Amino acid sequence: MRIAMIGTGYVGLVSGVCFSDFGHDVTCVDLNPDKIAMLERGEVPIYEPGLDLLMAKNVEAGRLTFTTELAKAVDGVDAVFIAVGTPTRRGDGHADLTYVMAAAEEIAKALTGYAVIVTKSTVPVGTNRKVLETMKAANPDADFDVASNPEFLREGAAIDDFMRPDRVVVGVETERAADVMSEIYRPLFLREFPIVTTDLESAEMIKYAANAFLATKITFINEIARLCEKVGADVKEVSKGIGLDGRIGNKFLHAGPGYGGSCFPKDTMALARTGQEFAAPIQIVETVIKVNDEIKRRMVDKLIDVCGGSFNGKTIAVFGVTFKPNTDDMRDAPALTIVPAMVGGGAKVRVVDPQGRREGEQLLPGVDWREDPYDAVEGADALVILTEWNEFRALDLKRIAGSMATPRLADLRNIYSGPDAERAGFEVYETIGRQGF
Ligand code: UDX
Repeated sequence: MRIAMIGTGYVGLVSGVCFSDFGHDVTCVDLNPDKIAMLERGEVPIYEPGLDLLMAKNVEAGRLTFTTELAKAVDGVDAVFIAVGTPTRRGDGHADLTYVMAAAEEIAKALTGYAVIVTKSTVPVGTNRKVLETMKAANPDADFDVASNPEFLREGAAIDDFMRPDRVVVGVETERAADVMSEIYRPLFLREFPIVTTDLESAEMIKYAANAFLATKITFINEIARLCEKVGADVKEVSKGIGLDGRIGNKFLHAGPGYGGSCFPKDTMALARTGQEFAAPIQIVETVIKVNDEIKRRMVDKLIDVCGGSFNGKTIAVFGVTFKPNTDDMRDAPALTIVPAMVGGGAKVRVVDPQGRREGEQLLPGVDWREDPYDAVEGADALVILTEWNEFRALDLKRIAGSMATPRLADLRNIYSGPDAERAGFEVYETIGRQGF
């Protein structure tokens, strides 16, 4: 199959590289010449484990190329994937479809034969139909079908998620389009990963419903965690106890400082918007959005307590600022609420993050970046673990406590325990939903 992938952001690049690894001939297109030049040099603009090697392998094999010229890339292909950004529109919280529609129009004008136009970007219900209309208006002679093929890639595990998906969701309207999509995903079907073939609207809705459900699950356990702290329960035990119920499942029940990232905040907001627009408000999702924001703010209060009532004049070491480990992404990370509150409150903040520095330097002004966790805690008044990078999971807590001015630990990912902290000599140990001291 010949494929054009429009947009070399996170989703586009990972999908393009993985499709080429299936043996398809893939051209990745981006408007940004610097990005294309970088990719042509073999450099990956994002941090995603394994992506650089897989990209190099397929470029070497001649199956993967990069260009800024959409028309050239689209010429003679079987499918064009639209994987451009759909940021939250300022003002109304809707997904901004400007880039999707601009791509659709350009594709319509460039098509030379039948192709399936597949939307991979996360788009509100009804967008695929709009893509269809936009393309028909731009070029009434264009021969194409549209398809919706949402992605479920987790940052940091995207290649594995692509190659071993829980399911592939495809929304189509014609058999011809369904056949092309089956051919593209054949390597996965051969290995019996399930495919859900459905209509366009249901495919679009599956993506939003899945992400909103997961965001709700996390928020639910975060609320339970808060109550656990008050009543003397341990949220880790509670998660285990409820997660063993097959109807609930044990995943996405880790209490923490609130969800962030490129998907959950944006998608919950867009779904809530759609609900309001169609006079069927999804109140549970609206509440989740509010509560998640509140949770991030609550973390600030928690940390003020850890610091003895004020950030002013304190030196605080923060371990991890990306929204989760194995990514350099800081979009909607709890750190963006927490760290500025510390700096604004008069604290000196030292940050260690294995990949967060590049983005973090812009987003978190006034902090002191350190490479080594032990160096960062030297003489500090508090240590805050914000992201559960593996690098932070087996720290020598005794050495850390011993080198701090006041050994206080706020473990917002529950990677240590009260006894661990006590043995190490911490005076204060704060957790999420467990019993600290
Ligand atoms: C998510 C979905 O998992 C993926 O299917 C979708 O395509 C895009 O959005 P991602 O944003 O990369 O992926 O990260 P994910 O691992 O899902 O974590 C999202 C946020 O939830 C992070 O901030 C993480 O720290 C938080 N989280 C996750 C928890 O706080 N507790 C959990 O138990 C799980």
